[in-house]
Amino acid sequence: MKGVRFLATGSGLPAKVLTNADLCKIVDTSDEWITERTGIKERRIAGPGEATSDLSARAARIALDRAGLRADQLDAIVVATCTPDHLFPSTACLVQKALGVPHTIAFDVSAACSGFVYGLAVVNGLIATGAAKTVLLIGADTLSRFTDWTDRGTCVLFGDGAGALIMTATDGPSDLLSVALSADGGKGDILKIPGGGSRHPLAKPEEAVSFPPVIKMEGKEVFKHAVTRMIEASLSALERAGRTPGDLTLLIPHQANLRIIDAVAKRVNIPDERVFRNVSKFGNMSAATTIVALDQALSEGRVKSGDLVELIAFGAGLTWGAAVLRWS
Ligand SMILES: CC(C)(COP(=O)(O)OP(=O)(O)OC[C@H]1O[C@@H](n2cnc3c(N)ncnc32)[C@H](O)[C@@H]1OP(=O)(O)O)[C@@H](O)C(=O)NCCC(=O)NCCS
Repeated sequence: MKGVRFLATGSGLPAKVLTNADLCKIVDTSDEWITERTGIKERRIAGPGEATSDLSARAARIALDRAGLRADQLDAIVVATCTPDHLFPSTACLVQKALGVPHTIAFDVSAACSGFVYGLAVVNGLIATGAAKTVLLIGADTLSRFTDWTDRGTCVLFGDGAGALIMTATDGPSDLLSVALSADGGKGDILKIPGGGSRHPLAKPEEAVSFPPVIKMEGKEVFKHAVTRMIEASLSALERAGRTPGDLTLLIPHQANLRIIDAVAKRVNIPDERVFRNVSKFGNMSAATTIVALDQALSEGRVKSGDLVELIAFGAGLTWGAAVLRWS
């Protein structure tokens, strides 16, 4: 079985910044409330005509450039997203087209905010079995298109973005030390987009009124589960890797809310300086969150060759997971 070697990362972030002050003009809220309850100060919002595949392709080109690879050297493109450009073709196929590659494996992974960590397990399988040698994994979401901009309980939380990671097969030890995943579909109703799928299709206008294609969330419930499950996932992935929190150079928790990040870091018992936080600048970018954070941490020199990093994710489904990796 082949192991995984990490080559390079990249980010694709929209130019438009939406600040808390901007949100105060849209809904009844305040910078003070948003900052105190979430830690978010601003987020990026996709521009007109900019969709998930556009952000994805931008992140991919940067990662390819840093890896010193041409797109035609990829064997597979996997996009983790819950906000695809279309129900089909997959966003991965659109990225393949944008990169001008004629033939690769290409498909999407749907696990909402946990999608990138789920994607790591999927890519590990592709590489281990020899189905693909060099793989582009993207975490990307454009939740602003599925946000109810009259609902102050949700519209302040999310941002748009994409992050890319290129991996290749190695005969040496794998740099993906462990992945721990789980889900609880029984609690799916606490965070969902009710309309727009096959149950309540938008093609029937009366359905769109009763079941709008926008995020509906029971915030307090989601908060509780996010903390519990992220702690569980983190400890489980560390155990599978045979490591302890003390071995980690950096913990990168899903950036949904600063209070969730702080609660998880405290329980996992990691000092503040080894916990990555960028939620104030980007809000919750769903599947893009952990990979954009890793890309930023690498650019800032907070992760170097040989360092151990853990990514932790939680999202709709409910889904959650964590991965321990050694940066190549
Ligand atoms: C959404 C969240 C920030 C709300 O914080 P909270 O402390 O639970 O706040 P509540 O929902 O209990 O609301 C408290 C009050 O603030 C109000 N409020 C909600 N959003 C507000 C906003 N943006 N500005 C001002 N007031 C707001 C509520 O209406 C409520 O007022 P009331 O007491 O008069 O009814 C928090 O629950 C959260 O972060 N949940 C997890 C979200 C998440 O991570 N989702 C994605 C997971 S991948």
